Amino acid sequence: MTNLNIAILGASGVVGTEIKNILEEKNVPFNEIKFLSSARSAGKDIEFKGKTYKIEEAKPEAFDGINIVLASAGASTSKEFVGEITKRGGVIVDNSSAFRMEADVPLVIAGVNDDDLKKHKGIVANPNCSTSQLMLVLKPLHDYAKIKRLVVSTYQAVSGAGKAAIDELTDNTAAAMKDEKFENKVFSKNIAFNAIPQIDVFVENGYTKEEMKVVKETKKILHLDADTPISCTAVRIPVYVGHSEAVDIEFEKEISPEKAREILSNAYGVEIVDNPENKEFPTPAECAGKDPVYVGRIRKNLAFDNGLSMWVVADNLRIGAALNTVRLAEKIIEMRLY
Ligand SMILES: NC(=O)c1ccc[n+]([C@@H]2O[C@H](COP(=O)([O-])OP(=O)(O)OC[C@H]3O[C@@H](n4cnc5c(N)ncnc54)[C@H](OP(=O)(O)O)[C@@H]3O)[C@@H](O)[C@H]2O)c1
Repeated sequence: MTNLNIAILGASGVVGTEIKNILEEKNVPFNEIKFLSSARSAGKDIEFKGKTYKIEEAKPEAFDGINIVLASAGASTSKEFVGEITKRGGVIVDNSSAFRMEADVPLVIAGVNDDDLKKHKGIVANPNCSTSQLMLVLKPLHDYAKIKRLVVSTYQAVSGAGKAAIDELTDNTAAAMKDEKFENKVFSKNIAFNAIPQIDVFVENGYTKEEMKVVKETKKILHLDADTPISCTAVRIPVYVGHSEAVDIEFEKEISPEKAREILSNAYGVEIVDNPENKEFPTPAECAGKDPVYVGRIRKNLAFDNGLSMWVVADNLRIGAALNTVRLAEKIIEMRLY
């Protein structure tokens, strides 16, 4: 029996609920588990492995005796509690953007750059959802042919923006069907029957913060040169779960679509669905609730030398957040890094 204790911070949220579900599915070895949220959800019941737990309010003392905290409660909450967690000897695996780009914080996708975990000083960051699914696909291709240039266009589900965003799509769709006016709160425009080319705020160079996360996090995780050209356009679409990405890559070395298929068919966490003649390609509706990152439409890119284009789809709440969080906890336990 292990004496390892874990806590889910943000247990009542979309990602926290998914973390709990994945911990139930997987056999992660731990002794005790705690479910933490703000005062809003504290006191509510939560079911885990046939037992009823009470959600507790996150306060410094709540982290006493906790070895690993799986956090998905937003950047300000992670910043508020990180010192309390680490001073008690705990490790925080954080889903927010609070620490991702800090030099001494490893940003890790399990199965891609596990060795970076060895450098942690109490904080391990989980990448942004649109970066996460891309890494499992790009890493094996990069190992073979070295990425020279990358262009990514994302089509992202509303669940990437949390519970309130999911509700807004439902309410907005109902209002639109009745031809009623709708006042959007989460998104900058109506999301029903629409596509919004804005995820997060705009920054000085005309890109959004979400787009720049893909650019910066990809370089950090794959250890690419700082001046590797990467560009991203991130679009929110009226889909509940599952982010899709159109990916165009130029490589140093020649790589054919056949070779890419061969490499990806042996890659960790990746599944190829690529037979367009039979309408076989991944879509978010078919990938929701599943663990692999699905790749299809693998073809020669017509604009780049040594270029490939492909379509990458995954459940943003699983590989984009909760699944990788749990996989990182497993690695930390396996590598005795707590
Ligand atoms: N959704 C995604 O696909 C995704 C992907 C990657 C990363 N993330 C990141 O994960 C985090 C959570 O996202 P989400 O979609 O799960 O959001 P969410 O559904 O809105 O849930 C937020 C959770 O954080 C808790 N919380 C908020 N303020 C708190 C505080 N001061 N102290 C303690 N707990 C607090 C909430 O508790 P109450 O119920 O008490 O309010 C709730 O449990 C965000 O940082 C987000 O950027 C999300």
